[in-house]
Amino acid sequence: MKTYKIAAIPADGIGPEVIAAGLQALEALERRDGSFKLEVEHFDWGSDYYKKHGVMMPEDGRDQLKPFDAIFFGAVGAPDVPDHITLWGLRLPICQGFDQYANVRPTKILPGITSPLAGVGPGDLDWVIVRENSEGEYAGNGGRTHRGMPEEVGTEVAIFTRVGVTRIMRYAFKLAQSRPRKLLTVVTKSNAQRFGMVMWDEIAAEVAQEFPDVTWDKMLVDAMTVRMTLKPKSLDTIVATNLHADILSDLAGALAGSLGVAPTANIDPERRYPSMFEPIHGSAFDITGKGIANPVATFWTAAQMLEHLGEAKAAARLMEAVEKVTAEGIITPDIGGTATTQQVTDAVCEAIRMSN
Ligand code: NAI
Ligand code: MG
Repeated sequence: MKTYKIAAIPADGIGPEVIAAGLQALEALERRDGSFKLEVEHFDWGSDYYKKHGVMMPEDGRDQLKPFDAIFFGAVGAPDVPDHITLWGLRLPICQGFDQYANVRPTKILPGITSPLAGVGPGDLDWVIVRENSEGEYAGNGGRTHRGMPEEVGTEVAIFTRVGVTRIMRYAFKLAQSRPRKLLTVVTKSNAQRFGMVMWDEIAAEVAQEFPDVTWDKMLVDAMTVRMTLKPKSLDTIVATNLHADILSDLAGALAGSLGVAPTANIDPERRYPSMFEPIHGSAFDITGKGIANPVATFWTAAQMLEHLGEAKAAARLMEAVEKVTAEGIITPDIGGTATTQQVTDAVCEAIRMSN
């Protein structure tokens, strides 16, 4: 029997609630399949840890995570700790330190969930957004001088490297090739930004030669928001920079019904380090402790994790169970239902037990 070591970092707010739900579903899958085992170790890092120790995770945090096969992450963020500390103190050091350069964000309208787009239902919107996760606009290159003076300057320099763009492009083409439509849209802003963005377009054309069976096109990011809204069916796999894909994937999540169903995977495609799987949403302190956090995003990212580990059958079983439960209307208030986190979780576990 295959055994996988999973590091669970529930962290803040509703993070522990949705990670607990995700682990219950994973246990149900383990029992149902009987062909793999998950050894889960919990890490109590996050804002409470910060308040006690002055850091979000221990100095050797990444060394502790390195032996794991995957990281199952909740969310960071507390009302009384600045957001740049929580983000740069835990999530980003893991993504960047483990070179998880491909951020993969699937979006589709699940059965029983209503899109805000009129006349658009399940099947009309089924995308995967690939976000460059290691450089670009979030490379951290910049600074501020003459603080508080009228001549104060703030710079935030986007960094695009040939290595960085080529590897994300190759990942995106490969992913597009693995999906039935074999369709990729490359997003840039190469009309206004003449250097890094034009290089993106050029490298896309170069990498495309390696994938003659993939149909690809280019979009400017502003026009892309229009196409996503008005012609969702014309899109399948999408690749964009760190900033552009950050924004487009929030739009994608909203068009699919809610942030509470949107998952993400931070992948090191070369498998030198563990990859990290998490819901897109944050710690949602407005609903923390109420027992109504939507666990669907966490189930979906758990399915991404299983797929990454090579357990595609269990991943598909999990998503089938989730879709059965949403179709039955067992959903949380953020998507118009009345069910609690636990009721949705129990229903998903039951659907897993009953599955063929
Ligand atoms: P948020 O994603 O936590 O919440 C936005 C809205 O969506 C809230 O009304 C919330 O109740 C709702 N929501 C989010 N997830 C939900 C779920 N699973 N079920 C039901 N409703 C859900 O974003 P917000 O409020 O901007 O940020 C709160 C904190 O989270 C901040 O400290 C922020 O920095 C942090 N954050 C962390 C992220 C991460 O860990 N990856 C991502 C986004 C924000
Ligand atoms: Mg975002």
